[in-house]
Amino acid sequence: RKELNIGLFGFGCVGYGLFEVLHKTPGLKTTIKKICVKQAGKARPIPAENFTLNKYDILDDPSINVVVELIDDADAAFEIVSEALKKGKAVVSANKKMIAEHFNELLELQRLYNAPLLYEAACCASIPIIRNLEEYYDTDLLTSVEGIVNGSCNYILSRIFSDNLDYTIALAEAQAQGYAESDPSLDTGGSDAKYKLLLLIAHAFGLVLNPEDIFTLGIDRIGNTELQYAREKGYKIKLVAQAIKNADNSISFFVIPKFVSPDSRLYAVDDAFNGVITHTSFAETQFFVGKGAGAYPTASAVLSDLSALTYDYRYEYKKLHQVDAVASNEDRLLSI
Ligand code: HSE
Repeated sequence: RKELNIGLFGFGCVGYGLFEVLHKTPGLKTTIKKICVKQAGKARPIPAENFTLNKYDILDDPSINVVVELIDDADAAFEIVSEALKKGKAVVSANKKMIAEHFNELLELQRLYNAPLLYEAACCASIPIIRNLEEYYDTDLLTSVEGIVNGSCNYILSRIFSDNLDYTIALAEAQAQGYAESDPSLDTGGSDAKYKLLLLIAHAFGLVLNPEDIFTLGIDRIGNTELQYAREKGYKIKLVAQAIKNADNSISFFVIPKFVSPDSRLYAVDDAFNGVITHTSFAETQFFVGKGAGAYPTASAVLSDLSALTYDYRYEYKKLHQVDAVASNEDRLLSI
């Protein structure tokens, strides 16, 4: 297996989580050679010589063969990731916004420079859903993918339903636990789930969408009327991301808060867990569940991508362009 010399961008919640997780995983031959951060002089738990403020200390170091990108800023992340791919370095990223906004450009860079980009951590953290969609479902026909893909929103809704907690307090808790984005309106407004759905649709159905094409309503739109209705009926409300293949081979897709009854598998998915249900022709229904946010669960997905790079794994995107039609999502929305 290949040895990995890593250049890490970002040392926040997930970056530090990865650092710790790597130290607890001695089987993997990896060395973090340099960590690029935005701020100098911040108190950090490891010696200052590990850090740099200059991205070229990583990008121009020929001994670094893997770049792990775990920063917030999607524009800066895109620059780093494209430069790394152009230099032939493998890249692991958890940045769903950046990948969703530049999916086709990133594909082209991977092809031109023969450098892989893996991003299991960008979608549902600890659940290996991209790898499953890429490999397992390559041979089976998926008819739908739906699920809870944002841990913060699910945590907030769980605390509201189980503990009657106020929305603002529940959100503050999600932030304190390291589940929320730096700008939590990306979670509560549904954008984070939208980016993840875009990745799921690309790998499940081969359709690359623009984020703005995905009809999205966030949990910030839920009012007292909806909460009261759900409680009266014995339902919960979950933020659900869904893509359905229609009989004419078109796809309908959206992110919406849904009333979920106890007979749905998603009903019991609480706290910062995510749950994804796939429907297929042969395997029938499958249900993936796991922690969808937080330092260690996200770092575990980065770790699995790093492990995959040691045997030169790369996404093959075999399903791309298998479906090119987008259905009228509004009509579909009324019928679900
Ligand atoms: N803010 C994201 C979430 C983090 O809550 O799901 C994991 O992608």
